[in-house]
Amino acid sequence: MSGNGLGVVQGNSLEQELPSIWQALQEKVDRMIGQLGDKSPHVAPADSGRYDDMRLDWWTAGFWPGILWVMYDMTGKEHYKKAAWSWDEKFERKSIAANNFHHDVGFQYLPSAVIKYKLTGDDDGRRRGLAAANFLAGRFNLAGNFLRAWNQDKTGWSIVDSAMNLSILFWAAEEIQDPRFRQIAVAHANTIVRHFIRADGSVNHIVSFDPETGEAIESLGGQGAAPNSAWSRGAAWALYGMANAYRYTGDAAYLHASQRVAHFFLAMLPDDYVAHWDFRASETLEGEPRDTSAAACAASGLLELANALPKAHGRRYREAAERILLSLTRNYGTWDRPEHEAILLSGTGNKPAGTNVDVSLIYGDYYYVEAIAKLMGWNSRIF
Ligand code: GLY
Repeated sequence: MSGNGLGVVQGNSLEQELPSIWQALQEKVDRMIGQLGDKSPHVAPADSGRYDDMRLDWWTAGFWPGILWVMYDMTGKEHYKKAAWSWDEKFERKSIAANNFHHDVGFQYLPSAVIKYKLTGDDDGRRRGLAAANFLAGRFNLAGNFLRAWNQDKTGWSIVDSAMNLSILFWAAEEIQDPRFRQIAVAHANTIVRHFIRADGSVNHIVSFDPETGEAIESLGGQGAAPNSAWSRGAAWALYGMANAYRYTGDAAYLHASQRVAHFFLAMLPDDYVAHWDFRASETLEGEPRDTSAAACAASGLLELANALPKAHGRRYREAAERILLSLTRNYGTWDRPEHEAILLSGTGNKPAGTNVDVSLIYGDYYYVEAIAKLMGWNSRIF
């Protein structure tokens, strides 16, 4: 097949296609730099293909700089660094004015400040990354061993997405040799294993705890279809986040938790390997939207899982990731629409709220780029 503007050849493996995908991605991101300008992209509707310009304290603000830093690290080309450079400074400026930063500072500062410091040694990046880690650590509830998710009145709510924010705590612990950050990350990771990941490998999106006693009260559907449904992006967050927790700690409980979610996720995939937005949205899933962001994030997490295991055991996860990425490339890319500002189509942001369904999402784009880069040999890590 071609017809998708990329010329991916039917029957070829992802490995055979990687050089042309990587070339197309560089051209795509180069074009995006001009198209996006100073915008902080979040959602692009399918018809216009134009990314919005979201507030800087929204949880997705780190993904565009993250794409740029991955491209810089892979190619050494200065224009990526130049386009990525000022994002963490913008976040810092926002953080000292009225703002709504919350536990997602990991999603914001890991792909901006922390990777900038890792790649360039920039002291400001380091300082900003550590400030974000301090802020996240300050959200820890000692009675319940959980990180508080959002602001407003939900003092006892924690959400599975937090699994991805833990990396900034693990990084800070190593960076300044202060075990408190690791202790908090480990305590919260244990809470994820205990209260969020179910026996069948599906996950709860929100768990409400009593913020005084720490007792778990109930789980809530959140961005999934129902409290007992199976929101696919939530599963991707848990799969990837637990693989990371294993990488940082060597504790096999996290490896097994990640595998349990991975097995569920893979067993629930449709014929083209790209997840529906909720694996239990309805009986047959007929007509239910896909979520390419869940697919891309899970693929990158599966590659992490593959790396964590001896080659023979890890191979099945790597092959599963490649199947997902090949389908995303063939069936969900914008390759034949140069005016389109995103990389992937068919993401689902928040179906229950009726927002951002069948759109492009910057985090889908980010995890796709990151996963392809990993297959190309990218060895740095952002999450
Ligand atoms: N972190 C929010 C989401 O996955 O939509």
